[in-house]
Amino acid sequence: MDAESGANTKTGQLKVADKSWSFPVYEGTIGPNVIDISKLYAESGMFTYDPGFTSTGSCESKITYIDGDEGILLYRGYPIDQLAENGDFLETCYLLLYGDLPTSAQKADFDYRVTRHTMVHEQMNRFFQGFRRDAHPMAVMTGCVGALSAFYHDSTDITDPHQRMVASIRMIAKMPTLAAMAYKYTIGQPFMYPKNNLDYASNFLYMCFGVPCDEYTANPVLARAMDRIFILHADHEQNASTSTVRLAGSTGANPFACIAAGIACLWGPAHGGANEAALKMLGEIGSVDRIPEYVRRAKDKNDSFRLMGFGHRVYKHYDPRAKIMQKTCHEVLGEIGHKDDPLLQVALELERIALHDEYFIEKKLYPNIDFYSGITLKAMGFPVSMFTVLFALARTVGWIAQWKEMIEDPNQKIGRPRQLYTGAPQRNYAPISRRK
Ligand code: SDX
Repeated sequence: MDAESGANTKTGQLKVADKSWSFPVYEGTIGPNVIDISKLYAESGMFTYDPGFTSTGSCESKITYIDGDEGILLYRGYPIDQLAENGDFLETCYLLLYGDLPTSAQKADFDYRVTRHTMVHEQMNRFFQGFRRDAHPMAVMTGCVGALSAFYHDSTDITDPHQRMVASIRMIAKMPTLAAMAYKYTIGQPFMYPKNNLDYASNFLYMCFGVPCDEYTANPVLARAMDRIFILHADHEQNASTSTVRLAGSTGANPFACIAAGIACLWGPAHGGANEAALKMLGEIGSVDRIPEYVRRAKDKNDSFRLMGFGHRVYKHYDPRAKIMQKTCHEVLGEIGHKDDPLLQVALELERIALHDEYFIEKKLYPNIDFYSGITLKAMGFPVSMFTVLFALARTVGWIAQWKEMIEDPNQKIGRPRQLYTGAPQRNYAPISRRK
């Protein structure tokens, strides 16, 4: 812990039976203090126990701050709504990577560097051919991003700051190209090469929806919405997939392999897969009159059904991203003439009911970013199977910024949690003839 982020000015006491131990307490810039229990096992012979890490700080970070009770999300201190309203995604990428908003010269240089890394090695095309056409795009992305480490040996030495930055730029630049290729492959259309004269979001929409035999220009309202959706998903503190990337990176694995691990983790429906699950849920509900039945099921302890797109480990108030996502959803539906989309009607009524229901109020379950993103992405023309791929595309900058911060932390060591063992005590091997 370094001085500017709060020296070790207090101590915490732990008392078990007739023994007690003292541990340093650190204060951050904002947010909860932490008790440094790294010496607990050495001094007491005991571990802490915190399945799901509900009360555990895994690292020190300067990148993103979330206040779940107040519904606050800051990227390097800047509120998410100000960044989403006033900047673009590459500006947010620069901010997350370097720590400050870029000057116009720095922004132009960063845009130039990212733009000129958007192509992938031509032999990646053959890698795609090995998948079935109906493979889930997240399976394709997990494989292809991991495979990047087979092509870019000149940016896998994590001890070299230059190679770390090149790998970071390459990941940010190539994810849209690979994501568009994953989409094109599932629909049997030819891959579209990136175009350097297009901005990041327009280039991605061009690679997804353009075809070689026709001109394609992205609708500026949809391109702006896409860019804003990328900003909203860029980083989110130590969520499951970011923690996966940090843990993989702590072993010294190359950045492409670490990001592939993050993609695999994000796929789960409790995490990044929730946007796909939320849209399927809205489709299953189908109409406003069926909402009460599903709300009852969500509250039934004996029913595993949950309202996808609701609840959050940290936000016990409205997810600030959900409000911006809802506004973007209305803009997109208005632009394409679907403002009466039945799914949106179901979503708006479900949100209204849930926000007034005692169960959801008591459990502090509010819509999260995934609740409106699915409707928006479907309206933009993406199939449901691509929703989490878009989340992974946007989150790549957060993963790589957190990975870079971890690698550059002089106190960094391999992550290796312990356990509470409740299995069999030591016993001797019995030959099969003597087993009952
Ligand atoms: C993301 O961590 C991040 O930052 C993630 C993310 C990011 O940007 O990286 O924000 C992205 O993953 C958003 C979350 C997307 N997931 C979903 O929308 C899936 C549905 N939500 C739930 O699965 C759940 O709310 C979680 C997984 C998001 C949070 O789970 P927790 O914090 O472990 O809370 P919990 O499961 O213990 O729930 C607390 C209570 C439980 O009831 P009790 O056991 O206390 O009686 O609330 C209930 C749950 O049953 N509950 C729900 C519910 N979510 C929680 N009941 C109905 N519907 C829900 N959606």
